[in-house]
Amino acid sequence: MNRTLILRTGLPFALLLLANGAAAQDELIERGRTVYADWCAICHAPGEGATRILEERYQGALPAVVDQRTDLAEELIVARVRTWVAPQMPPFRQSEVSDADLEAVIAYLKRNDE
Ligand code: HEC
Repeated sequence: MNRTLILRTGLPFALLLLANGAAAQDELIERGRTVYADWCAICHAPGEGATRILEERYQGALPAVVDQRTDLAEELIVARVRTWVAPQMPPFRQSEVSDADLEAVIAYLKRNDE
């Protein structure tokens, strides 16, 4: 392959790799959206119990609906999902929310972060 050909094919190839990465991230986010709908929305959808508790706590300073937040740290999400931080939110077993599901739900919850 001569230099011109490398220069010609290099950029499209790099762009293709980037596009693949973005597509994989979109897929992860979509999986996380499903995990959230299946396991989290029952308490965290608008009007549900957790939302009402968080509304009371944040008084409008932060969105009470967890999937509208843009400030959630990965460590906080992991702690909430895997350990019993607050009495009203039991942790989830691997058989319910697997590590792969957890990674997906983190990607979903952080999709709009700065
Ligand atoms: C049985 C109800 C219930 C389910 C199901 C539930 N949660 Fe929660 N969650 C709560 C409650 C209630 C709180 C607030 C309690 C507190 O902090 O005192 C909370 C808090 C949180 C917080 C912390 C918000 C903050 O500002 O501190 C995160 C993050 C969270 N939940 C994520 C999730 C995710 C992700 C799922 C699904 C895998 C989930 N929750 C499922 C009830 C639930």
